[in-house]
Amino acid sequence: MASSPTIFSVLFLFIFSFSSAQPSFRPRALLLPVTKDKSTLQYTTFINQRTPLVAASVVFDLGGRNLWVDCDKDYVSTTYRSPRCNSAVCSRTGSTACGTCFSPPRPGCSNNTCSLIPDNTVTGTATSGEVATDIVSIQSTDGRNPGRVAKIPNLIFGCGATFLLKGLAAGTVGMAGMGRHNIGLPSQFAAAFSFKRKFAVCLTSGRGVAFFGNGPYVFLPGIQISRLQTTQLLINPVSTASAYSQGEKSTEYFVGVTDIRIADKSVPINKTLLKIDGTTGVGGTKISTVDPYTVMETSIFKAFTSAFVRAAAARNITRVPSVKPFGACFSTENVFGTRVGYAVPDIQLVFQSNDVVWRIFGANSMVSVSREVICLGFVDGGVNARTSVVIGGFQLEDNLIEFDLASNRLSFSSTLLGLRTNCANFNFTSTT
Ligand SMILES: *[C@@H]1O[C@H](CO)[C@@H](O)[C@H](O)[C@H]1NC(C)=O
Ligand SMILES: *[C@@H]1O[C@H](CO)[C@@H](O)[C@H](O)[C@H]1NC(C)=O
Ligand SMILES: *[C@@H]1O[C@H](CO)[C@@H](O)[C@H](O)[C@H]1NC(C)=O
Ligand SMILES: *[C@@H]1O[C@H](CO)[C@@H](O)[C@H](O)[C@H]1NC(C)=O
Repeated sequence: MASSPTIFSVLFLFIFSFSSAQPSFRPRALLLPVTKDKSTLQYTTFINQRTPLVAASVVFDLGGRNLWVDCDKDYVSTTYRSPRCNSAVCSRTGSTACGTCFSPPRPGCSNNTCSLIPDNTVTGTATSGEVATDIVSIQSTDGRNPGRVAKIPNLIFGCGATFLLKGLAAGTVGMAGMGRHNIGLPSQFAAAFSFKRKFAVCLTSGRGVAFFGNGPYVFLPGIQISRLQTTQLLINPVSTASAYSQGEKSTEYFVGVTDIRIADKSVPINKTLLKIDGTTGVGGTKISTVDPYTVMETSIFKAFTSAFVRAAAARNITRVPSVKPFGACFSTENVFGTRVGYAVPDIQLVFQSNDVVWRIFGANSMVSVSREVICLGFVDGGVNARTSVVIGGFQLEDNLIEFDLASNRLSFSSTLLGLRTNCANFNFTSTT
């Protein structure tokens, strides 16, 4: 009957040491706020990093390889570490380079450390920078509200330089790469807390949200987003970064668009451009948060714009002179508003079959440039566009998009406005 005191105390010791070894509790999901910068149209987030903790404002880069921050200026932290060459951390980053720094030691400048290539994907500028680790704090979530803060003691990132910040939103100190890589933030978050390698993004014109790990995804007033369509995520075998090593795959998210329709009619385009060329990595369709509007290779852009203009004319929508950077603008005169934006011809991106369709309504196709003028929010990417279609931020807003890295699947909701909510409706009131 009596329990053995020895077993009891061993058990107690075991539990005690187990729990004290945990840096923090284990969340099921994490979240980051994602806010649109009105002047650059970039999306930014905060990474709470370092000791003492600093809320580092960084540009949210969906396809970016990893987090990088400026280590040259104001990087002060007692928990900063730079892993030795050939260490496990270095191999996780894919780095084969080993560097020496001929200046006094400081964050970003150590000897015998490996390096990677911080990439400003907005301007297409990259440099070499030290691989580093530091503590990061991030809010957990139950999918409805933010919860307790979870800590990752050794989050891997790259040290960028001050000059690399040129072209990024004011106040930002780097970029948060959400791309498909071992050290992309979604993979590191999943590895730190053993949750699914999955994340979801809900951008908006103000403050939206990104979820990492398990759902649900709930927006005020208590609307759970669960009816999603699914398509495959494709891997481009050739890196699309500004600089990269030979043989590196792209960390960006490519999808297989097979047809583009306007008002239910296929736009006549050269379908070869929609495929990724396996040797050069040219072509295909990707999703990007650093392009404010969808960018199309010139021949696609022209065909798409004329088809839209014709469909708009059939609805008696009057074309007016174009406003840069757009190709087609219209008077709002004959256009009424609906819950999903201006009533204009709808655009459909068709994936693997006719039933998997991303429908784009007025709220995601028309940009208001004045009270009287709206423009088709797509831009010309030139004749030598590396990627034929880049689905940009404006088209993503108020859509929930989930990236499942384990099963290579993209799931999307189409506009949440149709469900009477939007991405600004996440309840950021913490429950702790
Ligand atoms: C690295 O080593 C070189 C030469 O051995 C030395 O001049 C330099 O100061 C060292 N740099 C750091 C950051 O320790
Ligand atoms: C379609 O695009 C491919 C790739 O750019 C090109 O090689 C081919 O000549 C194009 N076909 C036509 C009919 O323009
Ligand atoms: C467009 O305008 C013409 C002439 O005013 C009218 O006959 C036609 O019904 C209108 N079409 C639509 C779709 O409103
Ligand atoms: C947001 O969440 C908090 C905490 O659960 C709750 O008290 C509050 O009522 C919620 N706000 C709305 C508008 O429902």
